[in-house]
Amino acid sequence: MTFQGNNGSDVSRQGLVVAIDGPAGAGKSTVASHLAKRFGLLNLETGAMYRALALKALRSGTALDDGEAVLLLTRSTHITLEPGDGGNRVLLDGSEVTGELRNPEVTAAASHVSVHGPVREWMVAAQRSLGNASPSGVVMEGRDIGTVVFPQAPVKIFLDASVEARGDRRFAQQPAAAENKEALLKEMRDRDTRDRSREQSPLKPAEDAIILDTTGLSLDQVLERTVALVSERIL
Ligand code: DC
Repeated sequence: MTFQGNNGSDVSRQGLVVAIDGPAGAGKSTVASHLAKRFGLLNLETGAMYRALALKALRSGTALDDGEAVLLLTRSTHITLEPGDGGNRVLLDGSEVTGELRNPEVTAAASHVSVHGPVREWMVAAQRSLGNASPSGVVMEGRDIGTVVFPQAPVKIFLDASVEARGDRRFAQQPAAAENKEALLKEMRDRDTRDRSREQSPLKPAEDAIILDTTGLSLDQVLERTVALVSERIL
């Protein structure tokens, strides 16, 4: 499996790391992409890596709950993240799969493949080397960035919101992603439970993370607050 930063660089010099974690639909991608542009950082969506591996598992008929089989699959898998304006472009074994990664089936499968410890260790190593290879620094978003991938990150933001607010936002963004809002809320609750209760790196805020509950906030308010948080810490 290989990963490629925006310039393919393998320079091992770490710039600023902004870690953004939180449950699905809390606004992580929007915030990460805004902060990356605002502060000139590379934007890396770690969920896209789990989604790409999940897509490969689905395509190859690998049992998602068989950790050894999923780990074996990683040995012959090449995932490339190419940062772009509207989020990461993802190549799986050389072919673009960006458009398929948000399918409900892939979404659920990503949450299943990500419970396996050895699969996570392999992902974490790749994520660290990607972050370290960006001399300009990174905004990395996921579930365990502040707790496991970059526990020394100087800026850690944990974005949260009620499941209803997250469901409303997701449904407004991607009405085709679920049959109806109820189905979407159920899928989100199931995924939250799996992400928060898994043994390996469960979704939780790092002790020194700033927790921002965005339930009653507009997008502009969230962006304004997160820009202020990063500015405070780098100035
Ligand atoms: O952020 P996302 O919705 O694209 O993530 C898809 C799944 O991948 C999510 O259910 C949990 C998993 N994931 C993870 O376990 N750790 C990460 N750092 C990122 C995502």
